[in-house]
Amino acid sequence: MRIDIITVLPELLESPLSHSIMKRARDKGLLEVQVHHLRKWAVNDYGQVDDYQYGGGAGMVMMPEPLANAIESLSQHTRYDEVIYMTPDGETFNQGTANQLSMKENLLIICGHYKGIDQRIRDHFVTKEISIGDYVLSGGELAAAVVVDAVGRLLPGVLNDETSALFDSFQDNLLAPPVYTRPADFRGWKVPDILLSGDLKKIEEWRYEQAVQRTTERKPDLLKD
Ligand code: ADE
Repeated sequence: MRIDIITVLPELLESPLSHSIMKRARDKGLLEVQVHHLRKWAVNDYGQVDDYQYGGGAGMVMMPEPLANAIESLSQHTRYDEVIYMTPDGETFNQGTANQLSMKENLLIICGHYKGIDQRIRDHFVTKEISIGDYVLSGGELAAAVVVDAVGRLLPGVLNDETSALFDSFQDNLLAPPVYTRPADFRGWKVPDILLSGDLKKIEEWRYEQAVQRTTERKPDLLKD
């Protein structure tokens, strides 16, 4: 999969996408991420990419021209399945969306800043608008990193044990059950006996019950679907 990201703050994306599982995915050539500085398409030598909003009001708006030129220029080399704009008023990101996006070939992600991007770019280029939650970030970069991470780890071959994403929270609309590691007794707090029993069938049943219980208590909405 290839993901291109347009931003005015490429530095914000570097670290989250260069470590751990994202690093492995990129090193293995399973995920290619290219970050593009919007100033490359600025309207003048000052690197201007934003301007005051029509109608008045505080805050700058990202201009249509640099964004349109960036999108069109990148689209000459790559046919994008989705042009995604990260915005708090987009559809709320969840595991289902991550699963869907992981099946695409090429994604283009636009990170907004200031008051957002000119509406005409949203109307004429953007095919999907994603929010990572009902709060406002300073820009779309951290949100884009969340989406790339959640999608990238689902690509076949990225996780060590290929099946392990299947048991993540939210797959099958269930939260993951509790997990324990050594020691079996830590400060008198004991690991449930069943996990030490060696009875794999019973352990699976226990994990499923715990997952259902946790989901019922914490996110009952998931069980409705
Ligand atoms: N940009 C600013 N806030 C955001 C959010 N909550 N989700 C996605 N993009 C954003």
